Amino acid sequence: MKNYLVVGHSSGIGKALSAKLAESHYVTGTYYKNEVASFQNVSSHYLNVLDEQPDFSFLPDKLDGLAYCPGAIQLKPFARFKEDDFIADFKLQVTGAIKVIQHCLPALKKAENSSIVLFSTVAARLGFNFHSLVSTSKGAIEGLTKALAAELAPTVRVNCIAPSITNTPLAYSLLNTQEKIEANAQRHPLKKIGTPADIATMAAYLLSEESQWITGQIFSVDGGMSSIK
Ligand SMILES: NC(=O)c1ccc[n+]([C@@H]2O[C@H](COP(=O)([O-])OP(=O)(O)OC[C@H]3O[C@@H](n4cnc5c(N)ncnc54)[C@H](OP(=O)(O)O)[C@@H]3O)[C@@H](O)[C@H]2O)c1
Repeated sequence: MKNYLVVGHSSGIGKALSAKLAESHYVTGTYYKNEVASFQNVSSHYLNVLDEQPDFSFLPDKLDGLAYCPGAIQLKPFARFKEDDFIADFKLQVTGAIKVIQHCLPALKKAENSSIVLFSTVAARLGFNFHSLVSTSKGAIEGLTKALAAELAPTVRVNCIAPSITNTPLAYSLLNTQEKIEANAQRHPLKKIGTPADIATMAAYLLSEESQWITGQIFSVDGGMSSIK
């Protein structure tokens, strides 16, 4: 059994991922506002990645992989965002991931074929109105994925998943009526919105040894949105 860290296992994609991994591995999962109890193969711990020096004392000495799930989707016209909005979003989506990865590197290097999974968005490489904030942070995550994959090869693999809209609490305001769900579904070539399991399945694969020859990639899991007109 391997040891995985899922930062943000109390909601959405991280919740689906930690449940999937726990079927055959140990998972250290973290929550922030929504406390989750430990359950079979999963030990659950409080973590706020925005703390200057988060308490990582719960982490195991050796890690086979980690997924960093905290994110945000704030949509507004560019002119209405303030500089501080960009800084705050960057701290959650990018600096938080950097802090976690830097802390976990020694543990990841102790395992063979360890793997990091980060999350971008379809909107990092395809332009959408009102997405300047999230696209800026996720563009940085895609850059980080490439740079770290180079720097950490051949010891640690680094990949990223770029989902389109997925039915999680994060996307609640965009999906809180049947009409919104249907309208969003129709924007995708596959005429569906994503489920947490759609994304978690790819994340679990990228964390597993089955993907041992894959690093430095950004995977679109988006109902065809980014590549089909
Ligand atoms: N859902 C979508 O439509 C969509 C689309 C494109 C990309 N993505 C990306 O996919 C990833 C997962 O998204 P999701 O929809 O599963 O999000 P989610 O449902 O909001 O879950 C986010 C997780 O991160 C944790 N978290 C939030 N702030 C934190 C903090 N300051 N410190 C530590 N943990 C924190 C949350 O903990 P608590 O719940 O305990 O507070 C929760 O477990 C994100 O990077 C997101 O940007 C999502």
